[in-house]
Amino acid sequence: MLDRAQRKIEYLRLSLTDRCNLRCQYCMPAAGVEKLRHEDILTFDEILRVVRALAELGVRKVRLTGGEPLVRRGLVGLVRDIKAVPGIEQVVLTTNGVQLGSMAADLAAAGLNGINLSLDTLDAATFHRLTRVGELADVLAGIEAVQAAGLRLKINCVPLRGINEADIPRLVALARQDDVQVRFIELMPIGCARTAGLTGIPMAEVRSRIEQHFGLALQLVGRPAGSLNGPAVCYRLPGFTGQVGFIDAIEHKFCTECNRVRLTAEGFLKLCLNAKDGLDLRTLLREGISDDNLRLALRQSIWHKPLEHHFTDAHDLNRDRRAMYQVGG
Ligand code: GTP
Ligand code: 5AD
Ligand code: SF4
Repeated sequence: MLDRAQRKIEYLRLSLTDRCNLRCQYCMPAAGVEKLRHEDILTFDEILRVVRALAELGVRKVRLTGGEPLVRRGLVGLVRDIKAVPGIEQVVLTTNGVQLGSMAADLAAAGLNGINLSLDTLDAATFHRLTRVGELADVLAGIEAVQAAGLRLKINCVPLRGINEADIPRLVALARQDDVQVRFIELMPIGCARTAGLTGIPMAEVRSRIEQHFGLALQLVGRPAGSLNGPAVCYRLPGFTGQVGFIDAIEHKFCTECNRVRLTAEGFLKLCLNAKDGLDLRTLLREGISDDNLRLALRQSIWHKPLEHHFTDAHDLNRDRRAMYQVGG
């Protein structure tokens, strides 16, 4: 399915819950957030209806996000059901990894294709400070379980000035022996990240720090044609098994190549991470829309996907008020 800018929409980011078992400083307020009411969240049957309709329109990859998707009960069965939808080639998951130790094997058995794991630091005290409640050991056990289950692993780190700078080379070192992709993400001004008093580190600086530390030049890896991947630009370091990726949404806008739409836990089809444009699918579903009309509504809405984000425009009237934990990145 194409939008008005001829972008091919093939990738759905599906937020299963706004709840999370961590309180990362750039994402959640310390006191937590008011929980959505159970009846306000799409049921698995409703989610599957939307996935089926989108798959008929050309979506081939579904990424499950949150909040923290592993806290939604019944997740393993949902992975199996989405994987069985005709047209869906990949089901993947973005998680903080806290519960992966006990769930990775079941997720792999259900057909999950890979895991993106948020890990900003390898220092237990910094981890606790940044997540406010988390234990690094749980995530490390999760990584072992992912590798034991043979799942493809990507690690996400948001570099923050004065907080996890020393972790940049430590995290890259994980890609030396293992086939993992370690990615660095530019801090985006969304939700708490606007007010938490944190400063992101520019990706150009992250790149040069890596090169200096290892005494090696990063070598650009081309993007395979027709790739279903997101916005990370990947590099290889000589002698390393895995890769290093960079996601700099503001410095290097990648909107012209955007291939995705989002569905919030409340059933709002969100057309751009930063904009409030979209479609209230929950109401349509609960009013009994037919399959034909559902596809039509999706097609019409997606046609109007915003052309680009306006993160740097302080007066952007179209900015979405939803926080990161409500959107899933
Ligand atoms: P794959 O390429 O499928 O592995 O996924 P991904 O890297 O897009 O997903 P992940 O959930 O790991 O997200 C990594 C970072 O990329 C998060 O900070 C997301 O918010 C960000 N991101 C993902 N998609 C977009 C997008 O369309 N626009 C912007 N600005 N950021 C995005
Ligand atoms: N800017 C950039 N990345 C963010 N994430 C959460 N909040 C932000 C932000 N404001 C990252 C998490 C996770 C991914 C889904 O998004 O670290 O890895
Ligand atoms: Fe939870 Fe992810 Fe937000 Fe951290 S960044 S509080 S792990 S949703």
